[in-house]
Amino acid sequence: MIIAIDGPAGSGKSTIAKELAKKLGILYVDSGAMFRAITYSLIHNSIELSNAAVLEHLRTISVTLEIQNGSQETFLNGKNVSVEIRTKEVTSLVSLVSTLPSVREWILVQQRIVAENNDLIMDGRDIGTVVFPNATYKFFLTASLEERAKRRTLEMNQKGVDVEKVTIQQEIEKRDALDSSRSLAPLQKATDAIEIDTTLLTIEEVSSIIFTTVNKG
Ligand code: DC
Repeated sequence: MIIAIDGPAGSGKSTIAKELAKKLGILYVDSGAMFRAITYSLIHNSIELSNAAVLEHLRTISVTLEIQNGSQETFLNGKNVSVEIRTKEVTSLVSLVSTLPSVREWILVQQRIVAENNDLIMDGRDIGTVVFPNATYKFFLTASLEERAKRRTLEMNQKGVDVEKVTIQQEIEKRDALDSSRSLAPLQKATDAIEIDTTLLTIEEVSSIIFTTVNKG
């Protein structure tokens, strides 16, 4: 079974996907973490952001995801980079990096390998459209920009990062525009995905809608 959950930043994908994976006893894969790990590696090694240079770099690295104590940890060349991939620097560059064909192709291969041996829930931007067009279930989560910025700011503040909502809102807006307008695998709802506007819903309410749909199936 493959459950695809797509949507823009702050729409609730990862929170819902994690909870659902636990309930269903299947693997959760945060595909954004792969894009972030590559972005971190490119920054860290001062790689020029051309498709050719990035392709060359991708031949030298490994990105793996592991579940430790119930949460997904991201490893770059065997080193845990789960914290490093969430920095402002990575966040502001990741959408640009994810427009590169070399990056998308490299990650696509990894995504499909994981699904060969596991039932899973994967969240991202193109899971239901490109990565797993035949996924068992597809959901597309949305929420107003204002609400998404509010959630992200709260999440960062809870982690001890002092950041203002207006800054986060601008960053999300920029990322939305890039993710939706790129020519390769843009952020869009698969025609057969169930769309849920989470603006006025709690995590429990969204989880319950998805869980009920999957259980009925
Ligand atoms: O889910 P996230 O915010 O961690 O994702 C970071 C970026 O990675 C997102 O802005 C675009 C890119 N991404 C993508 O292009 N395709 C995916 N399936 C997942 C993420």
